[in-house]
Amino acid sequence: MDLPPCHKRCPRRRLLWWLLSGLAVLSVASFLVTGGHEELLSHSLPFFLASRERSANDPILPSSDAFLLLPPPDTCTPRPPFLLVLVTSAPSHTLQRQAVRETWGGVRWAAGYPVQTFFALGLPREPSQQAALQREAEQHGDIVQGRFTDTYANLTLKTLALMGWATTYCTGATFIIKADDDVFLNLPALAQHLGTLTNARGTYLGRIHWRVRPNRDPHSRHYVPASLYLPTIFPPYCSGTAYILSGDTAAALLGVAHHVPLVPVEDAFVGLCAHQAGITPQHEAHMAGSAHFPPDPCCYREVLYSVHGVIPSKMLDMWHSTGLCGTWQRTLGLLRCKTLAWLAAL
Ligand SMILES: *[C@@H]1O[C@H](CO)[C@@H](O)[C@H](O)[C@H]1NC(C)=O
Repeated sequence: MDLPPCHKRCPRRRLLWWLLSGLAVLSVASFLVTGGHEELLSHSLPFFLASRERSANDPILPSSDAFLLLPPPDTCTPRPPFLLVLVTSAPSHTLQRQAVRETWGGVRWAAGYPVQTFFALGLPREPSQQAALQREAEQHGDIVQGRFTDTYANLTLKTLALMGWATTYCTGATFIIKADDDVFLNLPALAQHLGTLTNARGTYLGRIHWRVRPNRDPHSRHYVPASLYLPTIFPPYCSGTAYILSGDTAAALLGVAHHVPLVPVEDAFVGLCAHQAGITPQHEAHMAGSAHFPPDPCCYREVLYSVHGVIPSKMLDMWHSTGLCGTWQRTLGLLRCKTLAWLAAL
C-alpha cells in the first residue's frame, strides 16, 4: 500500500473531485425534483465542498453551516475534557442514546479525569423526525448533527464530521474516543490506561484488523470498487466499534484526508488516513472489537475497555449490576472473559 503525497496532478484527488462533481450534479437534480432549500443544503457534502478553496494540505474542517444541531457554545470550556467520547448514532436510535446517557455516557469524571460524551448523527431520511431530534438536542445538549444523509454508506462522512467538530469546537481534548451506540465503554479503566501513557501524541488505539481485503461485491454494504481503491488489502486499522485518537492524531488525519480515497468503510478509511499520515495503529486487547462477549458485569465493568453489540436493556443491566468481579475472576481477568466469549460463540 503506497499513497504518495499528491502535488499538482494527483489521480486520486481527481477521482475524488469527479465523484464529488457527480454528487453535486445529482444534488441539483434531486433539488429540482424535490424542491426546498433544506434539501439542497443537506445534499451539499459541506465538509468537502467548503475545502475547495483551501490548499491540499489544509485539514478538512467543517464549514460553518456543516452542522444543523450543535451542543451549546460553552461546551468544552473552560476546560476541555481529557476524554471526549463521540458516539456515532442514527437519528432513529433514541433508545440507544438514552441508554448510553443513563449509563457510562452520563458520567463527567472517570478515574479522576474529566470526560464528556456526545452523539454524532446525520440528517434523518424522514424529515419529520427532525423535530424530535431538535427537542432531544435542546434537552440534553449532546447532539452534533452534520448535514449529510444518515445512511450506512455515509458513515465515513460522519467520522469526518465528528473529528472536524472535535478539532474545531472542542479543541484541547487529550483523547477522542469514537464509539458506536451499541458499545459499552468502561471509561474508568480507559481513562486510567490512557492516563499512564507517557506520550499521548500520535495515539491511534483499538482492536486492530489486519490484512483486510476490500469487499468487491457490488451488493455488499461494504463494497469498495477497485476504481476507488485498487490495492488488494487495507493497511491495518482499528475496529470502528470503538477506537481512540489523541487530539493531534485527529488533526493529522483530517490533514491528510484529501489524499485518501473516500472509501465508505469508515474504520478502513481512518486506517488509510493514519497510514498516509505515518501514524501506526496500536493494538489494545482489552477492546473487544467486533467479537461478541456475553453480558458479564465483571468483564464489562472491570476487565474490558469496550464491548460492542450491547442492546439498551443489557447496557442498563450491566450498569446497575453490583458485586462485579470476585477474587478469582479478577485474577483470571482477560483470559476468563475471552473464554466466555469463545464458549458463547460455539
Ligand atoms: C450521503 O449524504 C449525501 C448528502 O446528504 C447524500 O446526497 C447521499 O445520497 C448520501 N449517500 C448515501 C450513499 O447515502
